[in-house]
Amino acid sequence: MILSVNGSRYEVQAGTRTLVEVLRDDLNLVGTKEGCGVGMCGACTVLVDGKPLSGCLVLAEQVAGKEILTIEGLSQDESLHPVQQAFLEQGAFQCAYCTPGFVLTTIALLNEKPSPSDEEIREYLAGNLCRCGSYQNILQAVKSASATGVKHHT
Ligand code: FES
Ligand code: FES
Repeated sequence: MILSVNGSRYEVQAGTRTLVEVLRDDLNLVGTKEGCGVGMCGACTVLVDGKPLSGCLVLAEQVAGKEILTIEGLSQDESLHPVQQAFLEQGAFQCAYCTPGFVLTTIALLNEKPSPSDEEIREYLAGNLCRCGSYQNILQAVKSASATGVKHHT
């Protein structure tokens, strides 16, 4: 089967493995993290056709033919994506295990709703957990990214 990831197409033998397993083990895209493995933490979030999806909950073969975006697909050349830049500037992480999932979910949010309220941000990011408790800084980072008004390409 063919997986389309970050603008490239890959031939993979996925069998019954999940998307996060195939991304990490076959494509070496280890920016996508596996935490709980059961859809509760958001660490494995990737964008599939622009929508956040938990990579531990879907088989890779279920997303064949769709456009998958992982954290590795965001920065262009040497420059970070504006949402990554905002997370960096706001210190929105400690161990950073949750960060790829938060960044991708934030991009989807800002594409849908460029100027979300605090409540809307909290609601949209409710499926992403941060064990280090960086929620306040994450909120600031999302607001800062929103305020830049940059078109958040995916
Ligand atoms: S590892 Fe997929 S939601 Fe936690
Ligand atoms: S920064 Fe450690 S889990 Fe979020």
